[in-house]
Amino acid sequence: MTDTAKLQVDGKSVELPIIVGSEGERAIDVSKLRAETGYITLDQGYGNTGSCKSDITFIDGEKGILRYRGYPIEELAEKSSFIETAYLLIWGELPTQEQLQSFSDLLTGHQMLHEGIRRHFDFFPPKSPPMAVLSSVLNALSCFHPQLLEITDDNFFQEAVARIMAKVRTIAAFSHRHALGYNITYPHPDKKYSANFLHMMFSDPYNDYDPDPVIVRALDTILLLHADHEQNCSTSTVRMVGSSEANLFASVAAGVSALWGPLHGGANVAVVDMLDSMLDEGLSVKDFVGQIKDKKNGIRLMGFGHRVYKNFDPRAKIIKSICNDMLAKLSIDDPMLSMAEELEAAALEDDYFVSRKLYPNVDFYSGVILRAIGIPKEMFTVMFAIGRMPGWIAQWYEESKFTKISRPRQVYTGATERGYVPMSDR
Ligand code: CMC
Repeated sequence: MTDTAKLQVDGKSVELPIIVGSEGERAIDVSKLRAETGYITLDQGYGNTGSCKSDITFIDGEKGILRYRGYPIEELAEKSSFIETAYLLIWGELPTQEQLQSFSDLLTGHQMLHEGIRRHFDFFPPKSPPMAVLSSVLNALSCFHPQLLEITDDNFFQEAVARIMAKVRTIAAFSHRHALGYNITYPHPDKKYSANFLHMMFSDPYNDYDPDPVIVRALDTILLLHADHEQNCSTSTVRMVGSSEANLFASVAAGVSALWGPLHGGANVAVVDMLDSMLDEGLSVKDFVGQIKDKKNGIRLMGFGHRVYKNFDPRAKIIKSICNDMLAKLSIDDPMLSMAEELEAAALEDDYFVSRKLYPNVDFYSGVILRAIGIPKEMFTVMFAIGRMPGWIAQWYEESKFTKISRPRQVYTGATERGYVPMSDR
């Protein structure tokens, strides 16, 4: 294969280097294009644009492959834990027993919230969207840890990581309890990450919540499956914000905002809303699929399709199997699961979806599991954010080594120069 690409423009020929990734992905490096030709590239939605080189996560969307730092997602989901995987993503290697223990201890040491932060919750109205609360409170952490606004060495980075990873779940659980008007349940120093989150969500002063281990494992695996996904919308946002040398708290808070939308993390809520309304209205799968295919209705099958996967999203396969196992073990018969399975089967046989390579994505079944765990729908996207936190942190750190601000260009299509019109003449 060639190692340069030739571009002919305005009668001039320029050679552009080809960059090859470690898995053989090929990219044309256009970084000198404007300087040499005066042209820029236009790729709205970035479907063909590599924004960075990255060592963290590999996806082959055609083959349905996802690997964190080289490890297949299937193996990590079976053998690892969310915290071990977070360590892997952030520091690049699986931890030794001592490294894992000291990371866990660090998280335990930082899981409480400063009283000043805790009081923030009193001023959010009870029905505040938990994603708004999460983004605001993560950003507010900058005010309480000013020593971490500038990360000058790895020790500072480690402290910032521990504070964010530990506190994000405390913030999430506090926002849930505050929304219900319940007292706050503080984190427990002896509980592991996911069990501790469930404790903060569901334990009351008079009743310690003691979940079935199946539930804890399912939650931990869901977090792990969400932990990174290379340059998606929220991660690109985190890297973009971080490229201005904004601090880690501000950058991940921006990631939460980007994740919120229904085409991204908000899809897990949209799936449950969709299934709920089908059940409520008694709408058949056949009729609903028909409505989706009729483009004038503007309806999408939520939890289906992906910008990168043109084959099964490997996370969706694992989540579906966890969902089936967990519901069977807990003897939960949820009509929503049957409806989701029926819808999936119908879509996978329908030419509309087949020809567009639309398969279930990570969000198709995750809402059904979260519901079964007892997590309210309003918190689903927050769960995604907790899971994605190690990925955002790892990507922010990688970006921080590359000291160039991200600043795309545009093709201007507005009015050309015109004179100011006085108010009386308009
Ligand atoms: N239902 C019906 N039609 C769809 C869907 C869907 N879910 N997704 C894409 N299409 C159609 C789309 O209408 C278009 O058709 P046509 O070629 O006739 O115009 C074609 O498929 C290509 O769609 P696109 O919008 O150009 O694809 P994209 O890569 O820009 O969008 C997506 C990817 C995930 C935003 C989109 O598939 C979608 O809206 N899915 C539903 C929302 C969803 O589940 N989001 C979660 C994504 S995974 C987790 C995450 O990243 O947060």
